Amino acid sequence: MKFFLFIVLFLGVGTSVEAQNVGELLFKKNCVSCHGATGRGDGIRAAGLGTPPADLTRIAARRDGVWPMLEVMSILDGYLKATNPREDMPIFEEFLDNDMVEFDTGNGLITLVPIKLVEVANYLESIQNPRPTRYVP
Ligand code: HEC
Repeated sequence: MKFFLFIVLFLGVGTSVEAQNVGELLFKKNCVSCHGATGRGDGIRAAGLGTPPADLTRIAARRDGVWPMLEVMSILDGYLKATNPREDMPIFEEFLDNDMVEFDTGNGLITLVPIKLVEVANYLESIQNPRPTRYVP
């Protein structure tokens, strides 16, 4: 029994650490040049852009403490580009490969979304300052 518990704990910790790393790695590879290493909008390319890169530690703060998971993923995959162009913020089509994960949309539906979108969004959630006080799907 003790041995079993140990394995469960180990697996639990293992997956959360791994998940965090994938999102963090994707962030470091794709976002730091504009948003900066800490996500605060001070990357080396920031000064050359017409629009200042957003401070990504304040996504929830800008929305009255709400963490908007779907909105963040939709900014990255370009879904919101038509209604909110966000100048100088690229679309990341390479996140839309075939590795999907189940996502609870909050309206009783489970849908499949690209795992890389979830990983990056989860990483961004982890750097919110202050922590979100409410979560919407
Ligand atoms: C070429 C520079 C550039 C790169 C690379 C970039 N961004 Fe941006 N990003 C911007 C700019 C500029 C804005 C602000 C757009 C605006 O205000 O219209 C922005 C805005 C955003 C926003 C909206 C913030 C809000 O509160 O609405 C999110 C989320 C975001 N970026 C995430 C990312 C992530 C995650 C990556 C990497 C996967 C990334 N960005 C890569 C330039 C960049």
